[in-house]
Amino acid sequence: MNLEAYLADRRAFVDAALDRYLPAVTARPERLHEAVRYSVLAPGKRIRPILVLASAESIGGSPDSVIQTACALECIHVFSLIHDDLPCMDNDDYRRGRLTNHKVYGEAMAMLAGDALLTLAFELIAENIATVAPDRIVTALKLISNATGTWGMVGGQVVDIESEGKQIDVETLRYIHAHKTGALLTVSSLVGAVLCGADEAQQAALQKYGKSIGLAFQIADDILDIVGDQEKIGKPVGSDEGNDKATYPKLFGLDESRKMAHEEVAKAVAAVEGFGEPAEPLRAIARFIVERDL
Ligand code: IPE
Ligand code: IPE
Ligand code: MG
Ligand code: MG
Ligand code: MG
Repeated sequence: MNLEAYLADRRAFVDAALDRYLPAVTARPERLHEAVRYSVLAPGKRIRPILVLASAESIGGSPDSVIQTACALECIHVFSLIHDDLPCMDNDDYRRGRLTNHKVYGEAMAMLAGDALLTLAFELIAENIATVAPDRIVTALKLISNATGTWGMVGGQVVDIESEGKQIDVETLRYIHAHKTGALLTVSSLVGAVLCGADEAQQAALQKYGKSIGLAFQIADDILDIVGDQEKIGKPVGSDEGNDKATYPKLFGLDESRKMAHEEVAKAVAAVEGFGEPAEPLRAIARFIVERDL
């Protein structure tokens, strides 16, 4: 399959939907909506919403029927990025090729834009009831809230911050990556299929796929923070070193980290082997995650 064309097509679909679902800049409070749209509609890869669509597709479901939940995952992700860049966290000035939200709108507005996005996400998932049975929506709400909060992304961010400047062990590093990044990617890989009625075996396979690509994704992110091109990644190179972060390259070196990321991708591809042709996008996305330079 032509991954580039697939990703471009899906990105356009997601971008158009996000534009529809986000509050208009003319709605009060205008400045907040400007701040929200500034960060969400900036050029992102849209990996999480695209995974939701590909997950639905992998079991023969319709991507159209899960687009609201796909957009919800992007809203949660952007909330995490806006807060991650704040001076009290990673203190970064650039994101997606633009000044970070707080640099343009101030810290209070950036914090509130994140809050608004997190809550908008759950409104969108609830609204997906128009095309999905209520019991599946409730399951999705449970999975996504679990992956976002203290058992997932927020938990990982906390240990990431606590580990700055410390010599940490492999187990803690794995916890950080599996939670701060892995949890949202795992739930994105799973929830599209859950909304389309995946059985338990399919869910277990997609969860396995998601865990592996989630870890691979953050290892690749750590590597790009060292060897990436700022123009391409749209955010500063060397941020992790500056903050003395716990990363894979710091613990294992670049070559070993690359090897580990590729091993995770192989595991992810194998996990959805039984899905056949409809899971081809998932397999291609898995490879893209370690081969990307952005
Ligand atoms: C960056 O995510 C933050 C991490 C969890 C590593 P992405 O690399 O998906 O960023 P965008 O959405 O493309 O900007
Ligand atoms: C991703 O970790 C954490 C998030 C949940 C946003 P990073 O702090 O490494 O992400 P980037 O490199 O700033 O995108
Ligand atoms: Mg961070
Ligand atoms: Mg960061
Ligand atoms: Mg990073």
